[in-house]
Amino acid sequence: MSGLATLRDYIRWAISQFNRAQLFSKQDSDTAFEEARTLVLGSLHLPYELHDKYLDCNLHSDEHAVVQAILTQRIEQRIPAAYLLGEAWFAGLLFKVDERVMVPRSPLAELIPQHFSPWLSKTPQRILDLCTGSGCLGITCAFEFPDAEVVLADISEPALQVANENIALHQLTERVYTLHSDMFAQLRGQRFDLIICNPPYVQTQQLAQLPPEFQREPHSSAAAGQDGLQFIQHILQHAGKHLTDKGLLVLEVGTHRSALSTLYPEIDFTWLECSQEDTAVLALTAQQCAACCVDA
Ligand SMILES: C[S@@+](CC[C@H](N)C(=O)[O-])C[C@H]1O[C@@H](n2cnc3c(N)ncnc32)[C@H](O)[C@@H]1O
Repeated sequence: MSGLATLRDYIRWAISQFNRAQLFSKQDSDTAFEEARTLVLGSLHLPYELHDKYLDCNLHSDEHAVVQAILTQRIEQRIPAAYLLGEAWFAGLLFKVDERVMVPRSPLAELIPQHFSPWLSKTPQRILDLCTGSGCLGITCAFEFPDAEVVLADISEPALQVANENIALHQLTERVYTLHSDMFAQLRGQRFDLIICNPPYVQTQQLAQLPPEFQREPHSSAAAGQDGLQFIQHILQHAGKHLTDKGLLVLEVGTHRSALSTLYPEIDFTWLECSQEDTAVLALTAQQCAACCVDA
């Protein structure tokens, strides 16, 4: 990397190298340019929106070492940018992120601020973020519904540690809590006005074909059996017992939209529109969930 002097030099060089190495940038960025800018500026604790005039500043010798180390790790080890920086933006909020949790990228980032109108008919007082990972979905809900109590549940203790760090970061300890639970197991008897969930939904045989960046994420955040429906079906069959009368289930289901419509021909799923066309999100009322319940 000799000859690189300014922030602009490093960003330009990184884009070339990311493209040459065919890195997968879409995990938490839209383009190689966006990821290069995020990494170069983020590694020096500079904001992404830094004014253009500062891009032509020369780096201090210590800063050269920092930027070069992080770009080398990204290119040679295929470590996701969010893990290298220890943080990621989601729905306009900053979250602590590392190898204990999936990199936040759910299309629910654009749907939560719309408050699931008109399907969510009542402002939720109790919200469950099932399969919470970093807590990004539940914490975003906590900001959108400032009077709500929010439970962040996950089977992974390491993920819950990260979620707790994010609750503290956003000063939400008074009304956002974590819960260690295998799906709904530790929630017996509890009901919520909104259940939001981005569960694992990747077919086992597809996991190995994902780009190396995805192999860095916890296996338990993606793996969902032969057909990828293991957790989705469990949630559909049990959510009804945990929703209030006017409650709503919002569930990310990836590429399984048509499979679900075939499996449940009697259920009129509401499909929420979002810009990530390859990832479907459904909404079901409490009554519709009750119809899916295994022992309803
Ligand atoms: C796709 S990640 C979603 C993380 C986060 N909600 C997000 O959108 O970025 C799925 C999460 O489900 C959790 N998980 C896997 N199996 C589970 C189970 N049986 N019960 C509860 N959580 C589970 C994983 O630990 C992981 O954090």
